[in-house]
Amino acid sequence: MLIGKPADIASAEITSLSDYRKFMSRRKLLKGAALAGAAALGAERVAEFLSPQTVRAGTKLQTVPSQLTTTGEQLTSYTDATTYNNYYEFGVDKDQPAKNAGRLPTRPWTVKIEGKVAKPLTFDIDALLKLRPLEDRVYRHRCVEAWSMVIPWVGYSLSELIKQCNPLSTAMYVQFLSYFDAKVEGAWMSQSSISWPYSEGLRMDEAMHPLTLLTFGMYGETLANQNGAPMRVVVPWKYGFKSAKSIVTIRLTDKMPSTTWNDMAPGEYGFYSNVNPNVDHPRWSQKTERRIGQPFYAQHKATLMLNGYADQVGSLYSGMDLKRNF
Ligand code: MTE
Repeated sequence: MLIGKPADIASAEITSLSDYRKFMSRRKLLKGAALAGAAALGAERVAEFLSPQTVRAGTKLQTVPSQLTTTGEQLTSYTDATTYNNYYEFGVDKDQPAKNAGRLPTRPWTVKIEGKVAKPLTFDIDALLKLRPLEDRVYRHRCVEAWSMVIPWVGYSLSELIKQCNPLSTAMYVQFLSYFDAKVEGAWMSQSSISWPYSEGLRMDEAMHPLTLLTFGMYGETLANQNGAPMRVVVPWKYGFKSAKSIVTIRLTDKMPSTTWNDMAPGEYGFYSNVNPNVDHPRWSQKTERRIGQPFYAQHKATLMLNGYADQVGSLYSGMDLKRNF
């Protein structure tokens, strides 16, 4: 499988106006769904939810280098990676998660692994941090909204954890459920038509691929709350919404699990959602992306097939029609 070759991109292909429209249309979907909840809740609680909170500072993590790191590209700054976020439980604007996610209680924290396993397990987060050496892995991070970053994540392959619970042969998919408590994340969201908790899923072979990272940190420190503390997954060849944050349950299933964005707009957000420059979002092009934090002349880049990881993961999709594989 070929990795897409960067091409010259006319800056007019993605203008700031089209980026803005893309973002607004996705936000509108959520805001519309959340509006009824906000009305029911009353202005006082909404104001409380929107008030800024201090997010806990990261703790340094002991890490080892990784064979699976991607090198050569300039890292996104820590400030950009922690202030330009999608974490809708804490607000729909990019700067809201950094202001609101401080209320997420990241200790004590337990993670359940259940479903089609011989040995269901519950782990304390501090035990998970010690299960395997924590690797530094720089990955490209590409959002379906056509912006991207390069982030040094910290973690180990998700397969290391899944193996612990002896998956049954009937386990075909893995579902991830994020933390949700209306008292913490804002009742206006819970009263919306979105069915929380945030749910995402992978096919079993995707989940077991070594690149799929069970992630505890970034930039050598524990994850900031707005990035999905204390534990998320990162699936670098898929659009970012596949990488669920603040996970409390990992469920192995025999059927394709229902997932939040796919439920909300199945024609726009497929279960696979592999990064693919040849499959446009119905309302915008995926041919190019905007690298956050780069000067304007260097911002626009060609989208790479499978986000540049085609050599490693292309074989997972051999025989599948990539045009339909969205
Ligand atoms: N996980 C939860 N629980 N809630 C979310 O809203 N947003 C997703 C994904 N994981 C999201 C989530 C989306 S749309 C993206 S692009 C990435 O997280 C963003 O990760 P980042 O904020 O660390 O860049």
